[in-house]
Amino acid sequence: MTKHPLTTTGQKALVIGCGLGDDAEALAQRGFEVTAFDISPTAIAWSQQRFPHSTVNYVVEDLLAIPSQWHLAFDLVFECRNIQALPLSVRSSVISTITSVVAPGGKLLVINRFRETEAEPSGPPWPLSNSELAEFEKLGLHQTQRFVFLESEQLDVKQLLIEYQRRHPATE
Ligand SMILES: C[S@@+](CC[C@H](N)C(=O)[O-])C[C@H]1O[C@@H](n2cnc3c(N)ncnc32)[C@H](O)[C@@H]1O
Repeated sequence: MTKHPLTTTGQKALVIGCGLGDDAEALAQRGFEVTAFDISPTAIAWSQQRFPHSTVNYVVEDLLAIPSQWHLAFDLVFECRNIQALPLSVRSSVISTITSVVAPGGKLLVINRFRETEAEPSGPPWPLSNSELAEFEKLGLHQTQRFVFLESEQLDVKQLLIEYQRRHPATE
């Protein structure tokens, strides 16, 4: 994040499966109005305890049943290592839900494990494939940056960082 200067005043960010809140706090420090959620009440309580003066709105929510007011509501959506942790049976619904919260002109950052093959992985974790990633674009986002890098050279584990954007209606 430090390499990319951002204009964040008044911008809304959503951190998915925020765990103990470090990514949410990093975005709040850069000026975003952050909502961060996790299905685990313990994780949310722990985040609030760790950052008692935080501006982040920490909430318990299920990615598979998010509030309707989040639809198209966030200028930045941050998804780090949650998709890979959820089984393939819910993958398309998870991808569709994550896409649905990106505002017109907004960005989605996805950081997850990547698999080169379309064969079903034996997870967890269940890395993402190219055809699964293509779903984000079929649902209205377009890819603006993509990096694949090795998480572990010894184990040949690949990580992926992709930035997507939803075009502003005026530019379509
Ligand atoms: C592998 S951890 C990743 C945490 C954090 N994003 C990170 O990169 O450190 C997965 C997180 O997703 C949360 N989670 C699992 N299922 C979820 C769901 N259906 N909705 C929201 N959060 C969920 C877990 O409680 C956990 O905090």
